[in-house]
Amino acid sequence: MRKKIILLGSGELGKEFVIAAQRLGQYVIAVDSYSNAPAMQVAHEFEVINMLDGAELDRIVAKHQPDFIVPEIEAIRTERFYDYEKQGITVVPSAKAANFTMNRKAIRDLAAKDLGLRTANYKYATSQDGLEKAVAEVGIPCVVKPLMSSSGKGQSTIKTEADIEKAWKYAVEGSRGDLVEVIVEAFVNFHSEITLLTVTQNNGLPTLFCAPIGHRQERGDYQESWQPARVSDQDIAEAQNMAKKVTEALGGAGIFGVEFFLTDEGVYFSELSPRPHDTGMVTLAGTQNFSEFELHLRTILSLPIAEITLEKAGASAVILASDFSENPRYEGLEKIAALPKTDFRIFGKPTTRPYRRMGIALTHDTLDTPVEEIVEKAKAAASLVTVKA
Ligand SMILES: Nc1ncnc2c1ncn2[C@@H]1O[C@H](COP(=O)(O)OP(=O)(O)OP(=O)(O)O)[C@@H](O)[C@H]1O
Ligand SMILES: [Mg+2]
Repeated sequence: MRKKIILLGSGELGKEFVIAAQRLGQYVIAVDSYSNAPAMQVAHEFEVINMLDGAELDRIVAKHQPDFIVPEIEAIRTERFYDYEKQGITVVPSAKAANFTMNRKAIRDLAAKDLGLRTANYKYATSQDGLEKAVAEVGIPCVVKPLMSSSGKGQSTIKTEADIEKAWKYAVEGSRGDLVEVIVEAFVNFHSEITLLTVTQNNGLPTLFCAPIGHRQERGDYQESWQPARVSDQDIAEAQNMAKKVTEALGGAGIFGVEFFLTDEGVYFSELSPRPHDTGMVTLAGTQNFSEFELHLRTILSLPIAEITLEKAGASAVILASDFSENPRYEGLEKIAALPKTDFRIFGKPTTRPYRRMGIALTHDTLDTPVEEIVEKAKAAASLVTVKA
């Protein structure tokens, strides 16, 4: 069974997905807006297009006639996906899932209004005046995010009324897409946040959950993630219940990264990715019987997954660039390589900019090791590698 897969988005998550697909003998065309992107380096073919351009998407889909379209990012003209589904192509996990999650409004209204999941109170605004009203209703402190953005772009926290004008301008700058609209969310005073990787399967097979992944965010991107996160049985049950509802409503088979805030008053649904999650790269440390990329691929191919087992405790820590470069080089690989229970990935991105994620350190240990120790080791390991411009 050799299937043809078009991968839309060719970053580090896509690269690991392609490697998983290669190992099971599948055929992949990797797509992105620039050439020599990480996933292209390991795929059979590649295309460089603007994925927000529907005509360009139509062109490559017609050219390659894939069995599957696997989105790796949100910035895609996902409205076209419904048509591809009608043509008999499987969009992963489903056209609806990809389309609903590219815009915060669709997914938030689905979760809060249709499914009744607990989320932060929220309002929308399309102008600075509208934002003032929304902030008055939601209350201060609150978080403002463009409806179409990711990795924290255009996102800021309003702590006093004086922040409103700045927040609006910042959101406009950080917004992707033609129309600027923001969501204003009440600030959730969480004690921790988790990603619950949720695997939906075809053929009536059950939805499976990975052990929760803890993470720490800075500047809109994760810095360290660890598995298993320490979460109470009650919170896990609540999070799994919410993840099941929202993934069922979106439909299809694949892995979802469902993000939750944990508070003393219980669990809040935040958002979700209908694909492998960046914090889930910790599974590359061998924490599970299958990595999140292998799980995604297997469900797409309708290969049954009997169980997901937690084998080890692990952590990932990011390796960031500090400067602009067209020719990045890496120093300290011999130092990180010498560490026990440690591994690393260098993604092979052709260019750098400050804070761009260029690689990760991965550490693991037995399940009875305090996960904080494993995280500290991952951070220390990552700090041994420097990206030279
Ligand atoms: N309502 C909130 N209250 C408190 N913190 C928040 C709130 N919303 C977001 N955050 C913080 O900001 C981070 C990023 O927010 P969110 O996941 O909504 O944005 P994103 O741009 O989609 O990020 P990514 O694409 O990297 O997941 C969260 O992981 C959390 O740490
Ligand atoms: Mg997020």
